[in-house]
Amino acid sequence: MDSDVLRQAPLFNALDDEAAAALAGSLGTIRLRRGEVLFHEGDTGDKLYIVAEGKVKLGRTSSDGRENLLAILGPGQMFGELSLFDPGPRSATVTAVTDVAFYSLSHDDLLRWLDGRPDVANGLLSQLASRLRRANDVVSDLVFSDVPGRVAKALLDLADRFGRTAEDGIHVHHDLTQEELAQLVGASRETVNKALADFASRGWLRLEPRSVVIMDPERLARRAR
Ligand code: CMP
Repeated sequence: MDSDVLRQAPLFNALDDEAAAALAGSLGTIRLRRGEVLFHEGDTGDKLYIVAEGKVKLGRTSSDGRENLLAILGPGQMFGELSLFDPGPRSATVTAVTDVAFYSLSHDDLLRWLDGRPDVANGLLSQLASRLRRANDVVSDLVFSDVPGRVAKALLDLADRFGRTAEDGIHVHHDLTQEELAQLVGASRETVNKALADFASRGWLRLEPRSVVIMDPERLARRAR
């Protein structure tokens, strides 16, 4: 597994090389195939995870079976700490969107690391703060933005994290089905398809299976506002 991604993870980025190597020594590793579930909402859990390779989706299911995606996470991103700091069951189901490799750290080991290490605690707090900021944006967008605006914003966010710039535009291999994209923006597949087709007909992007090529990020960003 690529240990460089650990250096981007919030727990690690304030550590010097020696401390980072010691923390890395406490980590386990685990791999999942595309479609496999790491844990379910409501499970009890005693570990947090850092994505090493691939992508996962964090989802919740309503009592009538509808699904909503809270986030898509990729290399260097961490999850699974809420059930430690706010003791209770797992708050989301985590499913592999591609084949995925994770590092895992037990909650007990994390507590030992946090003890007397304000740099590690700061890394964790800054991740929690940025997640809260993002969650606030999502709530505001659900209230104030229309579906095309939310689709534009979601594509730009995915481009930020998973995009690769080429001559013909930003290639974003998001690995999501249109159903999953719809679950991510909280809308029906039909409405999301219509928005994507409209963006494509304007020449802002090109649709490909499980990926998109963004040709005009400025226009998309204006639509996302
Ligand atoms: P935990 O509840 O232990 O298991 C599910 C994890 O998903 C949770 O910890 C968080 O780490 C993560 N999570 C929950 N909500 C969000 C969100 N809105 N954005 C990103 N990650 C989240």
